[in-house]
Amino acid sequence: MKVFQNKVEVILDALPYIRKFQGAVAVVKYGGSAMIDPELKREVARDVALLHYIGMKPVVVHGGGKEINNWLARLGKKAEFAPNGLRVTDKDTMEIAEMVLGRIGKEIVELLQHHGEAKSVSLSGKDAGLLQAEKMRSEYDLGYVGEVTAVNTDIISNLLEDGYIPVISSVALGADGQTYNVNADTAACKIAKELEAAKLYLMTDVDGILDKNKKLIHRINRKEAEVLIEQGIISGGMIPKIKSALEVLSIGVQSVHIINGTLEHSLLLETLTSAGVGTMATWD
Ligand SMILES: Nc1ncnc2c1ncn2[C@@H]1O[C@H](COP(=O)(O)OP(=O)(O)OP(=O)(O)O)[C@@H](O)[C@H]1O
Ligand SMILES: [Mg+2]
Repeated sequence: MKVFQNKVEVILDALPYIRKFQGAVAVVKYGGSAMIDPELKREVARDVALLHYIGMKPVVVHGGGKEINNWLARLGKKAEFAPNGLRVTDKDTMEIAEMVLGRIGKEIVELLQHHGEAKSVSLSGKDAGLLQAEKMRSEYDLGYVGEVTAVNTDIISNLLEDGYIPVISSVALGADGQTYNVNADTAACKIAKELEAAKLYLMTDVDGILDKNKKLIHRINRKEAEVLIEQGIISGGMIPKIKSALEVLSIGVQSVHIINGTLEHSLLLETLTSAGVGTMATWD
């Protein structure tokens, strides 16, 4: 009996959060190792479906860097890097990336439908003019790496209205007719902005932003983040994450959370408990 009472208490504790987030759009950027481990994939899908069933409107945006690398290796394609260390996306790599990302999207749909029993539809940023891009301006030619220039979320709003969970891959169409690979954190941020999301979650494979002693920073504001970038403590894939976080905060998205997707139920803990996990980014 005690076990059941404890369970009921957990549900009751979540009640204020469930009430607060009724109808709220939550954009979840899904990436890193949490996308590789089959057990974790199922858990993440169930968590997203649960948010949907308690009345939130989740939108999933995904990358797939690791899986694209696996396929490039399987196809014997050598990765090419610019002198500054950034990957060059040539025509073949772009085609493979588009195929792999499409496949990942359908897999997330399968998981949401099978393990979460929630209706879901996957799209690429090329569908219905969702993500438009132009070639990224950079010191070196990075090929088909794009920067998002415009977002049209009509299709997403329609899907949410009809009760679907949209799943979006970070591929965009250029005005020049080319397909571009865009950073999934940046894409998630632009989509969250356009949808006036209440929350943006950037799910990755570390606990959040770590300080110089590798300790988790629970809360970070704009000024602190800028200092850490300058000092090189925030680097690599964490830079587009924090920059996206700050961009959406500047236009009124209430909170952005960088959370560890490899930690079971991090999404639910962050949303439905006062404890919270990961790093919460705030403006001031
Ligand atoms: N200060 C920092 N705190 C935490 N992680 C950091 C920091 N600076 C750099 N990083 C790196 O950023 C990485 C997360 O970004 P990364 O782009 O690699 O993954 P992702 O965005 O989750 O996945 P994907 O790019 O495939 O969608 C971490 O694994 C870590 O190596
Ligand atoms: Mg990344």
